[in-house]
Amino acid sequence: SFDNRVKIVEVGPRDGLQNEKKAIPLATKIDLIQRLAKTGLSTIEAGAFVSPKWVPQMDNSSEILEYILEHDMAAPVPMTYSFLAPNIKGLNNANAILAKHPAAFETESMRSKQDATPSGKPALEIAVFAAATEAFSQKNLNCDIATSLQRFQEVIQGAKGANLRVRAYISVVLGCPFEGYEVNPHKVAEIATDLLEMGADEISLGDTTGMGTAPRTKELLNCLKSAGIRNEDIAMHFHDTYGQALVNTAVALEHGIRTFDSSVGGLGGCPYSPGATGNVATENVVYFMESLGMDTGVDLDAVSDIGQWITHEIGKPNESSVGKAVLGA
Ligand code: HMG
Ligand code: MG
Repeated sequence: SFDNRVKIVEVGPRDGLQNEKKAIPLATKIDLIQRLAKTGLSTIEAGAFVSPKWVPQMDNSSEILEYILEHDMAAPVPMTYSFLAPNIKGLNNANAILAKHPAAFETESMRSKQDATPSGKPALEIAVFAAATEAFSQKNLNCDIATSLQRFQEVIQGAKGANLRVRAYISVVLGCPFEGYEVNPHKVAEIATDLLEMGADEISLGDTTGMGTAPRTKELLNCLKSAGIRNEDIAMHFHDTYGQALVNTAVALEHGIRTFDSSVGGLGGCPYSPGATGNVATENVVYFMESLGMDTGVDLDAVSDIGQWITHEIGKPNESSVGKAVLGA
């Protein structure tokens, strides 16, 4: 039978907010995560254990993780909360909080048991982030790709050792702000293979600049397939800078990808990708998937309300065309 389920990874609270210059109050971030958790979304990227000198907006990620562990978020589905960690220091900071609340979350082996009764507790995921080009790696991580992979090996081992799920991003897979349009898909396949061999559970392919087009998305996915990478190990992370995100989403869906990252209200950008606008809006992806008969499990009206609320809260225009249409705004 045709499996029409699509998983949406909501990255608004991290990717969506990390680039905001003005410090967003902790209470607003927690409110955002709590609202999102009630919409049927099953995975929310909630923060980043990165250097506060590099990305000051993510500085209160410890408090966010702590809040999630200490409160019932009243989510209708089993939740996974994801946090970025670029190095062992980031993982250790996350683990120190988990160690204080050992009974407050499900480990990966508890979560993957098919017949287990839902505990109502969240699962945690650690996300590392590589780049497909040397220039972007230097800007984002202050090291070359090979060094970043060595660090990620340590992070992945540590996270798997703590029985946590691991996601691994590869940024600028369809265009780089410093090296241009011609990012080598074979290089992406090579890095993805390395990260999967290290134990990553999922690779998220980031079109950081939004330069990706339908033919190049297809070329990249065909290249990964030839390299033996399975569709179920891939997520697509589109940014809508050039308005191509849903076209590229259609190509990836047709190819067999079933996990897509998006951000409520189209929030976002990347501090090291000049001019990059937000991630594709969650509202747009949900509407698009529904129109194709795919099942996201996400309540479109509810996420539309959240998109309108959070963009107003941080003084930004609502970038979701679907969200605005749904609300008649
Ligand atoms: P560095 O300066 O080379 O690090 O930065 P270092 O190891 O030399 O340490 C420098 C200082 O940072 C030290 O503090 C460390 O303790 C501290 P000091 O002694 O000077 O007081 N430090 C940390 N503090 C907290 N947490 C840590 C940590 N590590 C070191 N984990 C580093 C290297 C990787 C740390 C830095 O470059 C960094 O934090 N980069 C993160 C950048 C980032 O978050 N980018 C955005 C996420 S990626 C993205 O958005 C793309 C994505 O959405 C996909 C897509 O769209 O394509 C995922
Ligand atoms: Mg991004």
